[in-house]
Amino acid sequence: MENKEKRRALESALERTDELFDAFSDVLRRDFSGKGHPKRDFSATAQKLVPDPKIEEPAFENAPQDREDERLHMSLEALISDSKKCSRCGLCSTRTNVVFGTGCTDRPTVMVIGEGPGETEDLQGLPFVGRAGLFLDKWLSAISLSRDRNVYITNTVKCRPPQNRDPLPDEKKACFAYLKQQISIIHPQAILCLGRPASTLMTGQPDSSMGALRGRFFFFDGIPMICTYHPAAVLRDMELKRPVWDDLKKLARYLGLPVGGK
Ligand code: URA
Repeated sequence: MENKEKRRALESALERTDELFDAFSDVLRRDFSGKGHPKRDFSATAQKLVPDPKIEEPAFENAPQDREDERLHMSLEALISDSKKCSRCGLCSTRTNVVFGTGCTDRPTVMVIGEGPGETEDLQGLPFVGRAGLFLDKWLSAISLSRDRNVYITNTVKCRPPQNRDPLPDEKKACFAYLKQQISIIHPQAILCLGRPASTLMTGQPDSSMGALRGRFFFFDGIPMICTYHPAAVLRDMELKRPVWDDLKKLARYLGLPVGGK
């Protein structure tokens, strides 16, 4: 049984006990006026006995800081045009396009954060449009999400790392100012991190494995966040499909999204 259900059951058991106690004291006092004592609220007691699923906070104690964070009130358009001129790290010298992000920009249900653009993304200027992207679209659709309606998709770095290598810590740090402002402007209801580079950056746990970070809720700047394996990793190892599906269902349950269809 889920903790929420357990808590509801406990709350109703406490309420029932309270009603019985009320009825019993009426009998003792031979007071059948029907007034009884005031109805008590047991939700706090029940929450104490059966807490909500683990939501950890604060998860971002050692976030990389950047002076640019002060510009949080910039518009998205201004931020995008700023990023197109960016030369904060070496990736600018090999990029074809800055791949800033795509999808719903007005408080989407979920913001997806991947690793960095691959070859197709670099050529088209859009994130997750290659094979991993098609797979990601299937995952999203399975929990009633889509980049056309209620999802925004971006990456930890906006320029392609050569030969699709992992982004270096300095590259992620240089690009983090953009990501932070993007999150602040777009203000998603929840964040889904895909793969280790995004998950370690966003949780502020650089040494943790994907196995340790996946399937748990964190908060990033007050926004609930969950991490799971990257679609490219699942394409290489189908054994990872099961844990990813568990993580997606957890996110869907948290957001009240129907699972298994549109
Ligand atoms: N993989 C990523 O992490 N991001 C993309 O945009 C494409 C593939």
